[in-house]
Amino acid sequence: VAEVIWGLATSHVPSIGAAMDRGKTEDPNWKDLFDGYAPARQWLAQHEPDVAIVVYNDHANGLDLDIVPTFGIGTADHYRVADEGYGPRQVPDVIGDPDLSLHLLESLVDENFDLTVFQELEVDHGLTVPLSVWTPDPGDAWPCPVVPILVNVIQYPQPTAARCYALGQALGRAIRSYGEDVTVGILGTGGMSHQLAGARAGFINPEFDAMWLEKIHTDPAALAALSREELIREAGSEGIELIMWLIMRGAMADEVTKVHSHYFLPASNTAAGIALFDNRAPQPA
Ligand code: DHB
Ligand code: FE
Repeated sequence: VAEVIWGLATSHVPSIGAAMDRGKTEDPNWKDLFDGYAPARQWLAQHEPDVAIVVYNDHANGLDLDIVPTFGIGTADHYRVADEGYGPRQVPDVIGDPDLSLHLLESLVDENFDLTVFQELEVDHGLTVPLSVWTPDPGDAWPCPVVPILVNVIQYPQPTAARCYALGQALGRAIRSYGEDVTVGILGTGGMSHQLAGARAGFINPEFDAMWLEKIHTDPAALAALSREELIREAGSEGIELIMWLIMRGAMADEVTKVHSHYFLPASNTAAGIALFDNRAPQPA
């Protein structure tokens, strides 16, 4: 069987990737963010999985806005890095795991989650920035193959938080029913609070983010009870990306151990958060 060994939640702000790509991580306005990543990166380097599942959203780069699936899964053996307007990031292309993708797809469809299938997909900052947060210096290749799971968080009506949490729980069952003995890292990406356009552009809500960072660990069901409207009111129109953290969390055990978390304001126009959970550590009695 496959086993989820850790879950990593992280923001995917494009400028975090750009700061890394341009060697600016020691600049005064970035240093605290990257220092905050260090403990998670060290732990992750010692806990390399066989395969990673990255729950993310595309931002009209790999997909056109005229077709926006609510949920999707990549089944390719290879995902090219998308050109978002300045040329593709100079990071490795992403190697897929078609066998695991097809198993997850079948299992999730059998549980009534009818995912759209991407046999071809270019991946944007929503996927590559979280990989860089995990692995700052990938060299020629990322640490392991990746299965992308896509969520519509950019066009109304986004799926509910409850539906995302339920998808995560079904994903956990799908992983545990896989025939191969592999270890899995799962990433939930996006957020934290931000709003990029409209009258509230620049909106950030640290109180809400602090609540979310705590409850994603201790009480994800409470977060899953939030409505779409509450999420957009409290976290901003793009802060609703946080629902993808619930898919990651749902695939993990009810009780997990927090390895590290960090919160930084602002990265570009966004509250940047990271939270790393160990799915295997024994719980205190
Ligand atoms: C920013 C944040 C995002 O989540 C995104 O997808 C693009 C830009 C930003 O804060 O600049
Ligand atoms: Fe985004």
